[in-house]
Amino acid sequence: MATSSGSKILREATSRGIDLSHLPAHIAVIMDGNGRWANKKGLGRLLGHREGYNTLKGVVRDCGDLGVRYLTVYAFSAENWRRPEEEVSGLMKLIEGAMIEQISQLAASNVRVQIAGRMNELPPSLRDALNKGIQDTSGCTGLTFTLAINYGGRAEIVDAVKAIIESGIPAHDIIEELISKHLYHPQTPEPDLMIRTAGEMRWSNFLIWQAAYAELVVTDVSWPDFDTSQLLNAVAEYQRRTRKFGALAPS
Ligand code: FPP
Repeated sequence: MATSSGSKILREATSRGIDLSHLPAHIAVIMDGNGRWANKKGLGRLLGHREGYNTLKGVVRDCGDLGVRYLTVYAFSAENWRRPEEEVSGLMKLIEGAMIEQISQLAASNVRVQIAGRMNELPPSLRDALNKGIQDTSGCTGLTFTLAINYGGRAEIVDAVKAIIESGIPAHDIIEELISKHLYHPQTPEPDLMIRTAGEMRWSNFLIWQAAYAELVVTDVSWPDFDTSQLLNAVAEYQRRTRKFGALAPS
């Protein structure tokens, strides 16, 4: 049975003309602008990330309530290690605390957690929290929520190529589907909609293989200010697009 927040977002989506039978199955999000949001308010960058975490809780709930099957968010890129040590360790602690805090709620909401990225390079306590999140939600059948942490699209392709070579597959058997099968989560369909907040028109090395045909929606709103209405705007924009996958639009 739908929760009250669940029926509210469904009503709002319907009243905006969103077709619930034509939702993006997989939404990917580049959650940008936490730092600028905090700066504008005279706050430290970590407070921006903390507010970004609050936004993320709402978006996970909204996607689940709406009936989106997969949500993948860019929480920490393989390039983010270049940031000041204080910000990096603050983000690691925030993500660890968030996972510990949210595990039971995620499991109760039937949300399955996955991690994309080189987990072996993360601090052990964060790894433990993430592994517990994966384990405790492994039987969930609702939204699949993938946190990209220490994730880089190029690194993911490098890891796939290494796995292919290690398994002894000859060069003439290498086709696109084989590479897709060796990415971090081959069972997760490619994103249909990629949302980027805070106005930059870049992919920033996020899901660069899988998002080849994703519809990109960029909003000027910073991630901490991204709300249900913004999410529905992006879905409505997605539904106005004609996806052609290199072919011609249906006449
Ligand atoms: C980009 O904004 C955001 C990040 C590098 C971190 C994203 C992390 C969160 C939203 C925190 C919550 C995550 C979890 C999983 C608890 P930016 O700092 O680059 O912003 P700027 O471009 O304005 O500086």
